[in-house]
This record gives sequence, C-alpha cells and structure tokens, in this order.
Amino acid sequence: MSAISVTHLGKSFGGVRAVDDLSFTVERGTLTAFIGPNGAGKTTTLRMILGLVTPTEGGAAIGGGPYRDLERPVSTVGAVLEATAFHPGLSARTHLEALRLAAGLEPGRVEHVLEQVDLTASAGRKVGGFSLGMRQRLALASALLGDPEILILDEPANGLDPEGMRWLRGFLRAYTHQGRTVLVSTHVLAEIQQIADHAIVLRAGRLAWQGPLSPETDLEELYMEVTA
Ligand SMILES: Nc1ncnc2c1ncn2[C@@H]1O[C@H](COP(=O)(O)OP(=O)(O)OP(=O)(O)O)[C@@H](O)[C@H]1O
Ligand SMILES: [Mg+2]
Repeated sequence: MSAISVTHLGKSFGGVRAVDDLSFTVERGTLTAFIGPNGAGKTTTLRMILGLVTPTEGGAAIGGGPYRDLERPVSTVGAVLEATAFHPGLSARTHLEALRLAAGLEPGRVEHVLEQVDLTASAGRKVGGFSLGMRQRLALASALLGDPEILILDEPANGLDPEGMRWLRGFLRAYTHQGRTVLVSTHVLAEIQQIADHAIVLRAGRLAWQGPLSPETDLEELYMEVTA
C-alpha cells in the first residue's frame, strides 16, 4: 500500500482551477519532491491530502484511507504547511507541551523533538523573538511530536540559512533511511535534488511529470522542460 495516493483530484475556487485531474502515489520509504511554479497547486494538493480543503473532484488517501479516518493521525502523518502561526508570548517548549497534551502523547516527546530539530538551547525563549529559521524548526518539531511515519512539508527550506539547509537535508535523508516517507514541496531545486529519489512536477494544477530521480538527472533542466 502506498503511503499517499491521490486519485483524479480536482479543486476549483470559484472560477480558479487550482488542481485538475491529478493522480500520483508516494511510496513508503521514499523522499518525494513536490515541485512546480507559483500557483501550480502544490499547497492546495497538500491541504486536500491532510483533509484541510475539500476536493471538488476525486480524493486522497494517506496510509490507505482518507485523513479523517486515521485512527492515530499524529503518529501517522506530521505536517508543516505555509505560514504556521505561533502564539508570540509562549516559549517553544510551552508551545510544544500544549500540543503534546492535546494529542495525548508521552511527556518525554517535547524534549526529544526539541533535540531532533536542534532547538533545545532556545526552547525557553518566547517564540515572538524567533527568527524565520527558528520558526521553521519549531514547526518541524510540532510535526514530529507524534513520531509520524509520514512527513508532509510545504516549503520547509524557506528562511533557512546555508547551514540550516544542510542540516535539513541531513535530517530528511536520515528520516527516510529509517523507512519513513517524506513529501516535500520546494522551489530550491538544487537542494532537493541532492536528497530526493522521486519528483512530482505540477503545472497549472495538472501533473507535468513524475518519476524517479537518479544522480544524473538535472532537476532544474527537467523542471524547465516540463513546465515551459
Ligand atoms: N483559498 C483560496 N481561494 C481562492 N483561490 C485559491 C485559494 N487557495 C489557492 N487558490 C488559488 O489556487 C491556485 C493554486 O494555489 P496554491 O497555493 O496551491 O499554489 P502553490 O503551487 O502552492 O504555489 P506557491 O509555489 O506560490 O506556494 C492559485 O491560483 C491560487 O490563487
Ligand atoms: Mg504553496
């Protein structure tokens, strides 16, 4: 069974066709790059997979069924979508602790995910004073709380400095080496090319290309060709 499957998925917002007859699967243990120009429909697709947007046509399954039917959603899939909002007055640790309690997870999880994203030293500081990169790490820590099998990330490299990008690459690679699955949208093709083993390319809401990536693939060239 695929980790994620999307079948004839479509979404219209009024007259805007955001996603159009889109089908693909993401296999377990793979790192799949989800790419395409601004407005191609990536975020809308990820939101439909996560049950946050209702499709106009078709459907999406995660771990074999729709998101809303998952028995243990936080342990199945963790997600970081665009523009995650945090309460500015809370510390990173307090923020994670609130999420942990709401999800009924063990107490040790907060310190564990803080360490996973290398945020332990700043965990007591108010999130309002966090840099963009620190917010990205905190959002990732939130997604990791339930120790999920599948990670869905919408432009996680946004705002990361070169060291942060390298760190994220290593993190995601290690994550899939444990047999877990990552679906990640990004515009930083040179970065994702180093770690992704599959790519799904959208163009104007439709599938432009999907397939495996090899070290010889020039992702930028492929992207330019199929989105032209
Ligand atoms: N809530 C909404 N209401 C109206 N239109 C929307 C809504 N959400 C998305 N759209 C439209 O759907 C299309 C796809 O948007 P989407 O955010 O999915 O693209 P994207 O591939 O994530 O782009 P980007 O790379 O800029 O993040 C765009 O034309 C966008 O304006
Ligand atoms: Mg987007």
